[in-house]
Amino acid sequence: MEELVAEAHAPSQLNPDAAPILEVENLQMYFPVRSHGLVRRVVGQVQAVDGVSFQLGAGSSLGLVGESGCGKSTTGRAITRLYEPTGGAIRFEGKDIARISPKNLKPIRRDIQMIFQDPYTSLNPRHTVGTIVGAPLEIHNLVPKDKVLPRVQEILEVVGLNPEHYNRYPHEFSGGQRQRIGIARALMLQPKLLVADEPVSALDVSIQAQVVNLLQDVQKEFGIAFLFIAHDLAIVRHFCPEIAVMYLGKIVEIADRETLYSRPHHPYTQALLSAVPDVRQAAVGGRRERIRLTGDVPSPINPPSGCRFRTRCSLAKEICAKVEPPLLQVGARHKVACHFPGELGHAPQTPVTTGICGVDAQGNTVAGQTADIQLNAPGYDTTWLDLATGQRTGA
Ligand SMILES: Nc1ncnc2c1ncn2[C@@H]1O[C@H](COP(=O)(O)OP(=O)(O)OP(=O)(O)O)[C@@H](O)[C@H]1O
Ligand code: SF4
Ligand SMILES: [Mg+2]
Repeated sequence: MEELVAEAHAPSQLNPDAAPILEVENLQMYFPVRSHGLVRRVVGQVQAVDGVSFQLGAGSSLGLVGESGCGKSTTGRAITRLYEPTGGAIRFEGKDIARISPKNLKPIRRDIQMIFQDPYTSLNPRHTVGTIVGAPLEIHNLVPKDKVLPRVQEILEVVGLNPEHYNRYPHEFSGGQRQRIGIARALMLQPKLLVADEPVSALDVSIQAQVVNLLQDVQKEFGIAFLFIAHDLAIVRHFCPEIAVMYLGKIVEIADRETLYSRPHHPYTQALLSAVPDVRQAAVGGRRERIRLTGDVPSPINPPSGCRFRTRCSLAKEICAKVEPPLLQVGARHKVACHFPGELGHAPQTPVTTGICGVDAQGNTVAGQTADIQLNAPGYDTTWLDLATGQRTGA
């Protein structure tokens, strides 16, 4: 991380006024689990993504973090429509693309591209770099054949590769260079949205900063919006002015960078961040106090009732097993899915969600009460619950 900070450009900044280019609402992606044997019956569902909602501004970047298996890649693949979602909406420039036909999807594939984690397996070893990078132009029949090579060479130069190397094969390049080839391929069609799935985690730390810088440069130059998926909270912090934390198929907290890193309100976010050396504290030889997560991540085939994090949460109470906490807005750009949200060591004693969920403090349904706000909508409202006063407040 120190190397990244030393070599990287200034962190990307949030533009709160950017119009949303992507709105994901209640996205669900389930995979069937089949029995063994001749008749392979469906015996269950892997609830890889279950009710994910968020908004991404044009030209902005949102980070998606969480432990392995929490559904980050599945979310990215559903948005790029490599998968057909089980449920929910994916509005790209206002149009729901969650279930549109392959024919209608084709023009949208130009606008939404993906960069994959592994530069070793994501490039066809039998094709030259020119063929790989030029393929999107040919598939979409965008330029005459004799114009493909000049375009390929132009884009190779943009990503810092030698344009004369277009006839070389992927194995002739280093890991960092191969990831540049993947980025060049993704940029070829000048997309409006790039889903970058762990774009630097397979690279040596020493070249991660260079690739992150390149992504920042192309983002600025071409005004591309990024969904940046990563394990590494330090890289996300640098690249993304807004960050969503996932746990077992759901977003548990989403906020602007400053709020998320300095005042996380969800016990899971607090635990994740406590494992990351704090940059400023590291400079004076310090570290945040470490919160250890006990137990394993439960199976997404049979997730815990109520709050999915409850089997590992030190704050869990009766209500947590009965009622799923809504992703509640608690600040101008801050939402958290917890019945007892608060800064570390300052969680409220009574659940803040009872009125909203129509239940009592133990999570039992209260006759005549129903949920009073639209839960799980993407984006932010102009008013929110002020945790200090228990009242709704606004900017
Ligand atoms: N095609 C599939 N069929 C069945 N289950 C799947 C499929 N793809 C993913 N899963 C399951 O869905 C869950 C989420 O997987 P996903 O790859 O989205 O996690 P991730 O957050 O990207 O993890 P990592 O950090 O390891 O890349 C996991 O339990 C995984 O086993
Ligand atoms: S809802 Fe309950 S179990 Fe879930 S994170 Fe909050 S306190 Fe923990
Ligand atoms: Mg993944």
